[in-house]
Amino acid sequence: MKILVTGGLGYIGSHTVVELQNEGFEVVAVDNLSNASIEVLDGIEAITGKKPLFGQLDLRDKAKVQELFKKHTDIAGVIHFAASKAVGESMEKPLLYYENNLGVLVYLLKELQKKENANFIFSSSCTVYGQADEMPITENAPVKPAESPYGNTKQVGEEIIRDTCRVTPNIKAIALRYFNPIGAHPTAKIGELPLGVPQNLVPFITQTAVGLREQLSVFGDDYPTPDGTCIRDYIHVVDLAKAHVKALQRLLKDENESNYEVFNLGTGKGSSVLEVIQSFERVSGKKLNYKIVDRRPGDVIQAFADTTKANTVLGWKAQSTLDEAMKSAWEWELQVEKNRSAKS
Ligand code: NAD
Ligand code: WQD
Repeated sequence: MKILVTGGLGYIGSHTVVELQNEGFEVVAVDNLSNASIEVLDGIEAITGKKPLFGQLDLRDKAKVQELFKKHTDIAGVIHFAASKAVGESMEKPLLYYENNLGVLVYLLKELQKKENANFIFSSSCTVYGQADEMPITENAPVKPAESPYGNTKQVGEEIIRDTCRVTPNIKAIALRYFNPIGAHPTAKIGELPLGVPQNLVPFITQTAVGLREQLSVFGDDYPTPDGTCIRDYIHVVDLAKAHVKALQRLLKDENESNYEVFNLGTGKGSSVLEVIQSFERVSGKKLNYKIVDRRPGDVIQAFADTTKANTVLGWKAQSTLDEAMKSAWEWELQVEKNRSAKS
């Protein structure tokens, strides 16, 4: 079966392409390379022995989206990763985010409406919950007013899909609310490639340890948490990728209870920033250079998932520990550094 993976050369997309190929799916990956490099194709091939079909295209071009579906009439499912995802950038450039994260979604759904039977998996985010009142966070937790245009595109994106599915019974969709994806494939052939200064904690840690960054700033240790630093649910990206295959198979086998479902994807365990640093130091054997600074505006105090629904309904559970995820992130950073030195 042929599966379209938008953003297929990105961080989570590339790991999902690997897992889809491992399960015997034929993959068409499309990507405009705005936040990925074409070399990721080689990394995927190095792992699975097979390059996916690849199309370099910008999904904001409606005609190109229509051409894509005319060319691949046998697409059995779509996993939609392509989006802009930097919270800070979205504050500066809201229209870039609304066009890229919502305009593209509308174009894809319009193509799926033409198909007799369409299966659609959407990359959503725990950001839709804002600061949830209760931990762990279940799928029934209220969606809070978004604190950024990026977060709003995930909330509105879910609503667009829900409203479309209500009037289009031939589209079956699942929104997956990721918590904090970290780490890399254990082969270190693919991983996270943040452009510029990493906004996220784990790539900043590994880039500091490898000497690319001077020092990690810990954004506040005066929160009402056991060690004063914020708590998140850090999930290994390979576990996350496997959940997408499970969700797709649920739809392909018509096991869904309604034609729009939502699942949290996390480990169910919260870890503080200092615990992530301690985990890194354990697995790398290196002391991390960091300092405590002021809080980062917009940070929620804590967010970790209730994963009961994904565990019992999807039949999926995260397998990797924080240490295993941090080890894979570190091994990937070392590989990137090695490749960088070989090129210079
Ligand atoms: P990423 O930037 O690595 O991957 C997105 C990919 O989409 C990139 O390869 C980029 O080049 C491509 N892309 C962007 N706009 C495109 C367009 N108009 N046409 C074609 N390709 C386009 O990001 P990621 O971390 O892999 O995230 C994937 C999805 O998961 C995104 O929708 C993101 O919002 C969501 N998400 C990510 C996280 C996280 O922490 N990484 C958490 C929750 C949700
Ligand atoms: C984690 C913790 C920071 C960097 C973001 C987006 C979210 C989703 C995942 C897309 C926080 C602390 C971080 C640093 C630090 N992306 N931190 N120093 O903020 O939970 O979620 O990425 O969907 O939408 O908001 O992840 O990795 O940025 O931060 O102290 O240099 O690490 O304060 O407590 P976050 P993060």
